[in-house]
Amino acid sequence: MDNPNNLVWHPHTITGRDRARHNAQRPFVVWFTGLSGSGKSTLAGALEERLFAQGHRCYLLDGDNIRHGLNKDLGFGDADRVENIRRVGELCKILVDAGLIVIAGFISPFARDRAMVRHLLEPGEFVEVHLNAPLAVCEQRDPKGLYRKARAGEIRHVTPHDMRSC
Ligand code: ADX
Repeated sequence: MDNPNNLVWHPHTITGRDRARHNAQRPFVVWFTGLSGSGKSTLAGALEERLFAQGHRCYLLDGDNIRHGLNKDLGFGDADRVENIRRVGELCKILVDAGLIVIAGFISPFARDRAMVRHLLEPGEFVEVHLNAPLAVCEQRDPKGLYRKARAGEIRHVTPHDMRSC
């Protein structure tokens, strides 16, 4: 069967290229990956403030915030993390097509999932930034008390304590 779902892509008149021109910028994604406490949200926020002040049209996708809405049905087991990043990747693609600069901050522990997002986009549209803070430093910061709760056995699947290797 050629088209089992009977879905046909409709090519609308206004394209991503038009919207990018309208916004006078080259849309792309800056993707921050790293452990909880490594500084993803802080740096993503600082970058958005800087780009916004320069007149760029941006949107920040923050892991915690996305899990309050779009991905509130997902947990932290491997399969749910894969689905989390898959949906966010599709969202990045839509927002880039909308002509925006996207700043994303997700633990995104699996290289395969980050590569999947990269491949959803055109070459040069995905810039990955690994915040390589040592686990000991992140644990010491522990801004959300996540590592303390993991050590106390109150929550599971905290990266990288209770996961398969990334
Ligand atoms: S990811 O691995 O799927 O990319 P994500 O970036 O969305 O993780 O995580 C968002 C936030 O959820 C983290 O910043 C942290 O505050 C919280 N979090 C991470 N792991 C857990 C966990 N095991 N249990 C509860 N909350 C978590």
